[in-house]
Amino acid sequence: MQRKRIIVDCDPGQDDAIALLMALGAPQRIDVLAVTCVAGNVPLRLTEWNARRVVELAGREDVPVHAGCGRPLLRSLRTAEHVHGETGLDGSGLPDPQMPLAGTHAVDAILAMLAAEPEGSVTLCPLGPLTNIALAMVKDPVTFARAKEIVLMGGAMDLGNVTPAAEFNFHVDPHAARIVFEFGLPITMMGLDVTHKVLVTDHRLDAVRAIGNRQAQAAHGMLEFYNRFDRDRERYGSDGAPLHDPCVIAWLLDASIFSGRDCHVGIETDSGSCMGRSVVDWWRSTDVPANAHVVSGVDEDAFFGLLEASLRAFP
Ligand code: RIB
Ligand code: CA
Repeated sequence: MQRKRIIVDCDPGQDDAIALLMALGAPQRIDVLAVTCVAGNVPLRLTEWNARRVVELAGREDVPVHAGCGRPLLRSLRTAEHVHGETGLDGSGLPDPQMPLAGTHAVDAILAMLAAEPEGSVTLCPLGPLTNIALAMVKDPVTFARAKEIVLMGGAMDLGNVTPAAEFNFHVDPHAARIVFEFGLPITMMGLDVTHKVLVTDHRLDAVRAIGNRQAQAAHGMLEFYNRFDRDRERYGSDGAPLHDPCVIAWLLDASIFSGRDCHVGIETDSGSCMGRSVVDWWRSTDVPANAHVVSGVDEDAFFGLLEASLRAFP
C-alpha cells in the first residue's frame, strides 16, 4: 500500500498529541512531511511548544514544526484549558523541547510543500481551528489546489461541544471553516458524531499503559489527565473522554473501519447562537451537491487496535 504523505495542522491538546504519535508511529504507512500549529486549545506559543515536545517524544526531530496563526480570521480566540489543562498537554510529563521551531510561517510552509511535492500527492490533516488552512487557500489558491485532499477533525451533525450548536474547531474560526468547505478540494469530515464513539475508558487506558514504552507511558499520562479532567465527560455522562483527533489518522491507516456518506456541509457564519455550526445535509433535503464525506460510524475495537499498534511500534 502506498504511503500517505501528510501535513498535520494542529493545536496540541492531548488528543492532537495522540494523533501525532499514531502517525509518527506508523512511518511505513504515513510520511509526515511537517507539523504546522495554530491557536486553539491553548494559545499558539503553547501549541507549537507542545507539538515540538511530541515530535521529540516520537524521536522524529527530522519532522519540522511550524508556527502559524495566533488568532482566528475575524473572531477573538477562544481556548479550552478546562479540557486540556493550562499547558494544553497536562499529564504528558514531557520535557521542554530542544528542537528549534522552523523559521517559516505555517501558511507559507504549507504552500511551499504543496508547490514542491507532486500534484495530488499530499493530504492535509487539520486537527484544530482551520485558520492556517483557510489563509493558505486565500493566499495562493492555485498552489493549494495541488493538494490531494483534506481529512479533518471538526463539526457535528448533531449537538456541538462548545455551544449547543457548534463543535470547538469550527466555532473558534467559523469563517476559516467556511472558506475550507467552499474551496472545492475533497474533504473527509470526522465530526463529533463519530469521535464520541471512541471513548477513553479505564479499560482502554490500562491497555495503553501495558504497552510499556516511553511513548505509551506519555500517552497514558495525557489520556488519564484528559479523561479525569475533561468536564465534558461528566457533562455527557459517558464512561470515557472522546478521542477526537486520532480518528483522522485512523482513517488514513484503515478507512474500512469507518462508515459515512457524501453530503453537503455548510458552515454557519452569521447566527450568534449557531455560529460555527456545520449544517450537514445527511438526508439530501436540498439539491446542493455534496462537498464532503461525512463520517458517522466506527468499529471502536479496530480503532483502538490501530492506536495501540502505532504506540507499540516505537522502539
Ligand atoms: O472539538 C474537539 C476538537 O477541538 C479537537 O480537535 C480538540 O483537540 C480541539 O481542538
Ligand atoms: Ca485539536
